[in-house]
Amino acid sequence: MNRFIFLIFIVSLIEPALAGGDLSNGHHHGSDNDGGKHWAVPYDASNRANPISTEAVSIERGRKLFLQKCASCHGATARGDGPAGKSLNPKPADLKKMSGTHPDGDFAWKIENGRGVMPAWKNILNQNQIWDLVNYIQSLSDSEKKNNPEHIDDHVH
Ligand code: HEC
Repeated sequence: MNRFIFLIFIVSLIEPALAGGDLSNGHHHGSDNDGGKHWAVPYDASNRANPISTEAVSIERGRKLFLQKCASCHGATARGDGPAGKSLNPKPADLKKMSGTHPDGDFAWKIENGRGVMPAWKNILNQNQIWDLVNYIQSLSDSEKKNNPEHIDDHVH
């Protein structure tokens, strides 16, 4: 039992360092460029609640932000084909394809913390803006799968 508590203590020391750490060193794995390498997000971060309801106004705010800040790499329709992303390895993710297949908190964490050339946005955008972006990304799959704007999907893989 004591050993168990000690372990938790160690993990709690390491966890913030990982979450806030600079991950820009050495994420140049592999030779392929599909950008689909596993990107693990801490459980709690991935499963936290989205505080901004997925209303059309939020999705619209997210869409505008996306065009300003993200489309250069991820493409205007989020297919991962923006002009600035062409020469990157890994490639910017195809967020339209990923839409609806990851929890909101998973996207939010990745946007907050970045990885490699994907910038960390948590000191640039505020929390509401980040969740607006998440709502926009999640809306991309809905429009194709079904014509029900009220439907909110939170699939876990
Ligand atoms: C400078 C180019 C660039 C910009 C600008 C950029 N991204 Fe990215 N993004 C990337 C790259 C490259 C990856 C893949 C990183 C990896 O897998 O290591 C990525 C990955 C992601 C992922 C994770 C996808 C996955 O694999 O799980 C999300 C979510 C994301 N970006 C959202 C955004 C949002 C939202 C913005 C705007 C606020 C943005 N990105 C701006 C380059 C960019």
